[in-house]
Amino acid sequence: MKYGHFDDRSREYVITRPDTPLPWINYLGCQAYFGIISNTAGGYSFYRDARLRRLTRYRYNNVPMDFGGRYIYLRDDQSGQFWSPSWQPTRNELEDYSCRHGMGYSIIGSSFTGIEAHTRYFVPLDETLEIWQLTITNHRATRAQISSFASIEFCLWDAQDDATNFQRNFNTGQVEVEDGVIYHKTEYRERRNHFAYFACSQPGAGFDTQREAFLGAYRGWDAPAAVEAGQLTNSIAHGWSPIGAHQVKIDLAPGETRQIVFVLGYHENPVDQKFDPPGSQTINKISVKPVIAKYLDPVEADAAFEHLRQYWASLLGIFQVDTPDIHTNRMVNIWNAYQCMATFNMSRSASFYESGIGRGLGFRDSNQDLLGFVHMVPARARERILDLASTQLATGGAYHQYQPLTKRGNNDIGGGFNDDPHWLIIGVSAYLKETGDWSILDELVPYDNQPGSEAPLYDHLQRSFHYTLERLGPHGLPLIGRADWNDCLNLNCFSDTPGQSFQTTTNKEGKVAESVFIAGLFVHSGRELAAIAARRGLNAEAAAYLTEVAKMKQVVLSHGWDGEWFLRAYDDLGAKVGSKECEEGKIFIESNGYCVLAGIGLDDGKAAQALAAVHDRLATKHGIVVQQPAYSRYYLNLGEISSYPPGYKENAGVFCHVNPWVMIAETRLGHGDQAHDYYSRINPSAREEIGDLHRCEPYVYAQMIAGPDAPTFGEAKNSWLTGTAAWNYYAIVQWILGIRTTLDGLQIAPVIPKSWPGFTATRIFRGVTYNISIERQGEGEQISLTVDGTPIKGNIVPPPADARRKVTIKGILS
Ligand code: BGC
Ligand code: NOJ
Repeated sequence: MKYGHFDDRSREYVITRPDTPLPWINYLGCQAYFGIISNTAGGYSFYRDARLRRLTRYRYNNVPMDFGGRYIYLRDDQSGQFWSPSWQPTRNELEDYSCRHGMGYSIIGSSFTGIEAHTRYFVPLDETLEIWQLTITNHRATRAQISSFASIEFCLWDAQDDATNFQRNFNTGQVEVEDGVIYHKTEYRERRNHFAYFACSQPGAGFDTQREAFLGAYRGWDAPAAVEAGQLTNSIAHGWSPIGAHQVKIDLAPGETRQIVFVLGYHENPVDQKFDPPGSQTINKISVKPVIAKYLDPVEADAAFEHLRQYWASLLGIFQVDTPDIHTNRMVNIWNAYQCMATFNMSRSASFYESGIGRGLGFRDSNQDLLGFVHMVPARARERILDLASTQLATGGAYHQYQPLTKRGNNDIGGGFNDDPHWLIIGVSAYLKETGDWSILDELVPYDNQPGSEAPLYDHLQRSFHYTLERLGPHGLPLIGRADWNDCLNLNCFSDTPGQSFQTTTNKEGKVAESVFIAGLFVHSGRELAAIAARRGLNAEAAAYLTEVAKMKQVVLSHGWDGEWFLRAYDDLGAKVGSKECEEGKIFIESNGYCVLAGIGLDDGKAAQALAAVHDRLATKHGIVVQQPAYSRYYLNLGEISSYPPGYKENAGVFCHVNPWVMIAETRLGHGDQAHDYYSRINPSAREEIGDLHRCEPYVYAQMIAGPDAPTFGEAKNSWLTGTAAWNYYAIVQWILGIRTTLDGLQIAPVIPKSWPGFTATRIFRGVTYNISIERQGEGEQISLTVDGTPIKGNIVPPPADARRKVTIKGILS
């Protein structure tokens, strides 16, 4: 069953019934001010950091689900009936409900008793505010007297503190109301230089800033007392729970339409100019007032929206493709690229499933996210790389996570995830291939943010590589540390204490357990680093890396091969993990996908054998699962992986993030049909028809789809913030369609299904627009290219030596 449809021309997903199986969300803002918005207007907003600068409150994991939002109520002042055009929170039976989730905006609305109302929510570029444009039309034959109410509940900034230390916060809450604008200034009197505001374009018929005055005691957002009564009470919050609510009365003739604009924003003042008059406790509003005035003007709001639209058109315009498969086109051209922006911005911090409190930005996650993002805004990728590298430790290891606001490594989780440093090499390499900006390698970047420790970024890459060489285990494979990519394979944890963190508790010294996956990653990152070194003229160094890579490859072939597939690891007792000798967990996806992706076993048939085993033992109709057989009980020596019931998450769920590794691996063997088949199994658009089973949004990837061992096989969970976005984008664009960035230029090496007659694409790369058409004339992957009519040797198109800014590439596959 479907809950809506794609509108590809408008780049929107249109939800046509509000009761989706789960809230189907969208993100507002893509730079510094962000919001989450569900299809029924639930969600919250924050500035930069979902934990430390939370503007509005949200009630996660609650019943009913998805409460706290940007709620608008309309009240018929003649009959007293009131409702929410976004369905929540009143949940009236609406006509023509729709939610159009678009690129950085959502438009939610409906009709009720002849009154049509839609609200367009978005964050203008380069501003720290959001605009709600409410449009109301009277379709009745008679005049309508309508009160409209707009409301939000302020969060007292630190979302963690807000949820836990309420005894204090019940006393600190403060607001000001001036010229009809509600200012939320809790803690502004002391160490905060920022405040929030909520403004309305029309003269108000009333406001409220005290939650209980608006809702009434013991009432919820579904039936606020003041809305029911038809009159806000002009309450001023003193402690307790500050909110912002505006009431506007309108009188609409039949057929008449009116627009009301609301602006919710965040503003900072210089420390020495916080108060006006100086010495008072009143917010100095001199710099914020013009901003508020500007966006309350519907003409300015429309212009800002148009600007946002153009911005997204240009970002998406960097790569567009036309293939015979609509799901490929839609995801590549619109939604997958869009999701990559969200994962770049949020990492895994703030979604319907991630509270925004628990985790900052992940080191490995953010580096991998670059793969799908770097082409869109390279300057921001550059900044991110330097931020990440600044949290690297002098050992070459890395803090596993850091806080986006402070940009400091997170001490609670610390380091010791032994795959982490290699992802920095992969991220930097992706950046260099995209931009050719070699200057980044000379940027001086500290270790652990310690002043005086600055070294060129290149030095960080060298240390990343050496980190592993200095941590080899008994077989010469990399030691795993706390975990590798699979956070839940905790081979040094041995936890028998409830509540102990599998990730940060290390009960064994960690000198034995080894990871075949990290070995594959090392082979991959080592090659990338060697190519970078060679380009810098460091030939001896490049050769040394390749020697280590060759050695590691040999170690994998002798100690990491199980006979039919790659082993996953050795545990702390030296026993195999992911071997036919194991009772459960005989074969894993990560080592098989990544070793082949890294080119191990391509020349001796082992790669083909490993992928055949993946196909036979791990691939399901809903995607490829992490391992088989699933662990049926808790294994002390394996850790969190066996804590999940079979079929969920890392215990034999379809962890979508790693599926693309197998897709890429398949392309390395020339298996275009298989690669694209795997791609389609987890493509959310292709799963739209099974919405009742899949349950998550059909326009973005989810972290996990339950595997066949689970009673809910095929059900997705944890949508939006997952490395799946970047890896799928990278797999389909660079390996299946084969339009690949390299240090030397754009490589064209499609490995597409045999049934495809070809495809066309546009790629803007280093300032040049490439119009690419691929025609299939035979069944193979051999390609001959002409560039602006001239045949070239090989498949790499170097940047034009002349001033050409448009280049036509034709490729014949035979
Ligand atoms: C999840 C992993 C996650 C880890 C760290 C585990 O419970 O299954 O996917 O990476 O926690 O947050
Ligand atoms: C989610 C984490 O964010 C990511 O870093 C990890 O690789 C996967 N879970 C798999 O455990």
